[in-house]
Amino acid sequence: RSSPRSSPRWATHDCARVLADSMPTCDAMRPLRLALAASELTPYAKTGGLADVLLGLGRWLGQPAVTDKATGKPSLTGPGHDVRVFVPYYKRIADSGVEVRDLPHGQKIDVRFPQRTIRFGIKEAKLPDSDVSVYFIDCPELYYREGIYTEDGDEALRFAMLSRAVLETCQRLQWAPDVVHCNDWHTALIPLYLRTAYSWDKLFAKTKTLLTIHNIGYQGYYPESQLDTIGLGDQRAHVHHGDLKDKKFSFLKTGVLHATRLSTVSITYAKEIQTDEFGMGMQEMLRSRSSDLLGIVNGVDYGEWDPATDPKIPHHYSLDDMSGKAKMKAALLNRFQLPHDSRAPVFGVVSRLTSQKGFELFADSIPIHLQREDMRLIVLGSGESKHENYFQWLRDTWPSKVGIYRGFQEELAHWIEAGSDVFLMPSRFEPCGLNQMYSLRYGTPPIVRRTGGLADTVQAWDPGAQTGTGFPFDEYSSQALAGTMDWVLRNWRDQRGWQQLVKNGMSQDFSWDRQGPEYVELYRSLSTHR
Ligand code: ADP
Ligand code: GLC
Repeated sequence: RSSPRSSPRWATHDCARVLADSMPTCDAMRPLRLALAASELTPYAKTGGLADVLLGLGRWLGQPAVTDKATGKPSLTGPGHDVRVFVPYYKRIADSGVEVRDLPHGQKIDVRFPQRTIRFGIKEAKLPDSDVSVYFIDCPELYYREGIYTEDGDEALRFAMLSRAVLETCQRLQWAPDVVHCNDWHTALIPLYLRTAYSWDKLFAKTKTLLTIHNIGYQGYYPESQLDTIGLGDQRAHVHHGDLKDKKFSFLKTGVLHATRLSTVSITYAKEIQTDEFGMGMQEMLRSRSSDLLGIVNGVDYGEWDPATDPKIPHHYSLDDMSGKAKMKAALLNRFQLPHDSRAPVFGVVSRLTSQKGFELFADSIPIHLQREDMRLIVLGSGESKHENYFQWLRDTWPSKVGIYRGFQEELAHWIEAGSDVFLMPSRFEPCGLNQMYSLRYGTPPIVRRTGGLADTVQAWDPGAQTGTGFPFDEYSSQALAGTMDWVLRNWRDQRGWQQLVKNGMSQDFSWDRQGPEYVELYRSLSTHR
């Protein structure tokens, strides 16, 4: 720990703070004060599942408390918390016209970094259909750019600033979080900043931190010299030593070293990231914190993703009446101007096109099936150009069987979940994956590789027992994917069995009502952590 710094002029020790200080943290009954910090949040700024998790978890935690049936008292692991979400106010949010208000006493806040002082303001909104406050960190010089993420020279500073601005906002609100829940590398410096630049502030005296790893493939690596830029130049002793020898440091590793507890987004991934195969250089340090690392499978916000109510699709359906699914298939094919034949299965893909997602396996498998079978393939994705080009090649080669949309299009993602017959997700690794859970609910059984959250959420279809929800395969090879496609097509021909498979998937419950309590238990265990 660095030596405490003196408190700035504006810091007052008012009533709220004194109360917060004296609040017994061991009071297991009281609602928790939870700060959720991240770089993405649906519906404002999204590139992948992280944004959906922040919305779903935030909204669930902030719902009214529920009564435990057994005790008649408020449930200890239920919702009903004082939860607040923190994200940057990106240009795209400002441009979207979303209604926000300037927080009084939350403007023109200066954050001092060694080489420059950066000013920000706080804007507030409520998460849609909830009472949960979102605090947007409004800092045009850092966040008014085209993308959420950039390759600009100040990328490290952009997210170091986010981490500090979260804490600065808590100070302006005089709000003492029990737990700051950091997500991925972008907010992983919060634990170290709490121990250093903010250690003087009693407001955070009892604050604990949870770092959730959504994807270990992104660690936020920067040259060691940037430690000075982000105000951690005198904290080299608290940064991973091996990296420093190589003249670099990583946000994520720093978070893993300093967060009170760690979690990741599925049970299998929690084990995988401790292995040489999946740890991406972090396996050793994760093994050394093994007892502090928990896997919690992501929840699904069925308020957003349910074919019975989804406002983004024109035809609705549920287990009681599936006719809307056939209409969605016709509408989807029509949208891509592909010929319709109810007997030809539609395979759907909605994905970031990165090496994580396993599309290289398509090369020696999908063309064979497109050549041989009466099938359709519809792809929505953006990312690495080699993958985009490959899908374009498939489209050019089989124009009556393949449809692609290059880009990010939320509504279309919902259409593909609903209008496809099979969802394709052959990931090389998958921390959790939300799309396969969405596809289950939309009656679109997924083909998945048995890894990470895919292994935890999809069970193999067994036509004899009529059990299972999809088509997992193990080996990361084109042959294994091709064999799985054959397995799917064989089962597709037995439409009676298929209907049962669809039903099994649609009956799965991955709601936050099921997954959320695990987070509450974890937060509670943290808030009593010494
Ligand atoms: P990841 O976070 O690794 O991308 P997930 O399956 O957890 O994978 O979540 C992906 C989320 O991003 C889903 O909500 C999916 O619908 C959405 N998504 C991915 N690519 C696109 C795209 N090109 N257009 C619209 N939505 C997309
Ligand atoms: C990451 C992972 C994905 C996970 C999502 C939300 O982007 O790649 O598997 O579902 O985060 O946790």
